[in-house]
Amino acid sequence: MADSVEKLLSKVGKLPTMPHVASKILELVSNPDTSATKLQRVIDSDQVLAMRILKVANSALYALPRKVKTLQQAIVMLGFNHIRSLVLAEAIQNLFKGKSKKGDLLESLLWEHSVGAAIGAKCAAQICNCPLGEEAFVASLIHDVGKLILLQGDPEAYRDIVETIYIEYQPFSDLEREYFDVEHAEVGALLAERWNLHEKLVEGIRLHHEPDGGDQLTDLIRIGNAIAYKAQWGFRKEPELDLATIPAAGRLGMDDEMLIHALNKAKELMETERQIFGVPATGKSS
Ligand SMILES: [Fe+2]
Ligand SMILES: [Fe+2]
Repeated sequence: MADSVEKLLSKVGKLPTMPHVASKILELVSNPDTSATKLQRVIDSDQVLAMRILKVANSALYALPRKVKTLQQAIVMLGFNHIRSLVLAEAIQNLFKGKSKKGDLLESLLWEHSVGAAIGAKCAAQICNCPLGEEAFVASLIHDVGKLILLQGDPEAYRDIVETIYIEYQPFSDLEREYFDVEHAEVGALLAERWNLHEKLVEGIRLHHEPDGGDQLTDLIRIGNAIAYKAQWGFRKEPELDLATIPAAGRLGMDDEMLIHALNKAKELMETERQIFGVPATGKSS
């Protein structure tokens, strides 16, 4: 791994660091002695983040019984675990905001795919009564961040890779390995490791293109990813994909009916959540 990290960094430069306020908040929420007031004070120091938390807390994604008007209410009603994922979601979204004009369209398609996969994984978790919905949401939001890092590291090369995939279907990993010596799943896992994210999440990112391995969280990422392909979110569009053929579906105990239910629920949520997550309406991004 050390060798490939060296090679990667020589190709793409430094990995993005987590914003200071976000890392402070993540540290606080993992400490059982942290009070809601202390957490609120730190979040309040970043007004953009505080506003985002309120906005997402009030979205259909959380379906809270009443409107959350203050940050304090959001912390009490959602709990530390959800606040953690909202903070991470904001940090991840900022990575996708595009540093160069050249990468804008691809970054936007990658972000659409990530949001779709995250919503798909969360819906799948709900439908199979798995308690990992929140973790699956965040993990799926970040699962392809390696593509973004490779794209931002060398936009010309990555655009060539995407064009080749459009013309003659080939797995991303083969072409990425050919040019960058590493594939996006490894790069994403490395970033998650550097950001001190949970080891299961790191594992899920690393294994998301392997048919087997990992645990339920990894399987939820795989299902979310497949739902995004089938729903045609992002640049890989597979409307004919039979979700039941994904081995992860069987392991999660999801039959055809449950998979279609998850897909339809995800499509419904994607339409209401697009604006909140800054994903252009269908048709504008592709
Ligand atoms: Fe991927
Ligand atoms: Fe993906």
